[in-house]
Amino acid sequence: MSPNHPTKNTKYTKSAKKIWLEWTRSHGMEAAHTMTMITKPRGTTEDDITAEVLRRFDATAQPRLRDIMQSLVRHLHAFVKDVELTEGEWMTAIQFLTKTGHMCDDKRQEFILLSDTLGVSMVVDLINHRKPEGATESTVFGPFHRDGAPELPAGGNIAPRDKKGVPTIVSGRVLTLDGGPIAGAWLDVWQADSSGLYDSQYTGTDELHLRGRFRSDEDGRFLIRTVRPVYYAIPTDGPVGRMLSATNRHPWRPAHIHFVVSAEGCEPVTTHIFDDADPYLESDTVFAVKNSLMCTFVRHDSRDEDAARFGVEPPFCTARFDFVLKPALR
Ligand SMILES: [Fe+2]
Repeated sequence: MSPNHPTKNTKYTKSAKKIWLEWTRSHGMEAAHTMTMITKPRGTTEDDITAEVLRRFDATAQPRLRDIMQSLVRHLHAFVKDVELTEGEWMTAIQFLTKTGHMCDDKRQEFILLSDTLGVSMVVDLINHRKPEGATESTVFGPFHRDGAPELPAGGNIAPRDKKGVPTIVSGRVLTLDGGPIAGAWLDVWQADSSGLYDSQYTGTDELHLRGRFRSDEDGRFLIRTVRPVYYAIPTDGPVGRMLSATNRHPWRPAHIHFVVSAEGCEPVTTHIFDDADPYLESDTVFAVKNSLMCTFVRHDSRDEDAARFGVEPPFCTARFDFVLKPALR
């Protein structure tokens, strides 16, 4: 029961009690539930409502939860007042969020897509992963990660069924901040195929493709065979796509490969490597590009040394990227 809730011991003024008795009698209600409506004057302005809603969260036991809820209310109310939201717009927003929820299942995460396209994911990322100089920067996780990717040996092919893509060898090392090798680091890798689609976007199959987990060797080295990533459009058949279209925004993401790199005693990093020749680097629809994550995909059109070393026929690409992990906080 809240501290303001009247009880049988509550003392009321005579006039208030009279009004209360008359009102409750006429409505056939128990008195205790109506008393505060009569004895306490109500604020009627927009700002009065904001103040009252904030007050209702004052007694939240967890200080962090109280801060979050009160800040949410402050900003949400300020937004509504700023744009003078109409009732029709309010209902449109309710329906938009409802459809966003209905679009989510174990393969599709429309709320992450919404967060990504509003730039919220990147702001959260930046706040939470302030890295020391030299450590690999993080970027959005995105909506397409799936658990259960197979563990593959060095040089393992994550794209065995993609026959249209340009074969690509991604190599590099996992290092500490001072340049030492990290042996036994895990690299969880996923990407879209050469048609710009993730495995989960194909209907009628649950099969994993273009996903794999690799471990670095004693020198911190890793070697991954895949296809060259291509730029792709995020799914536009849901509410997020309609939001982009209504606001004249394009849905394209520059070509990239996703990584989560983790190792004992280190802070894991969730990131991408981006093809530095991509036309959408300046306008990524989810704002995820960082200069330090650029990677050059070198095209080979002849049977050169790398073709022999990696056992691939031209044309193919090679890309090299080192991941640097910072120590985990103790
Ligand atoms: Fe992606």
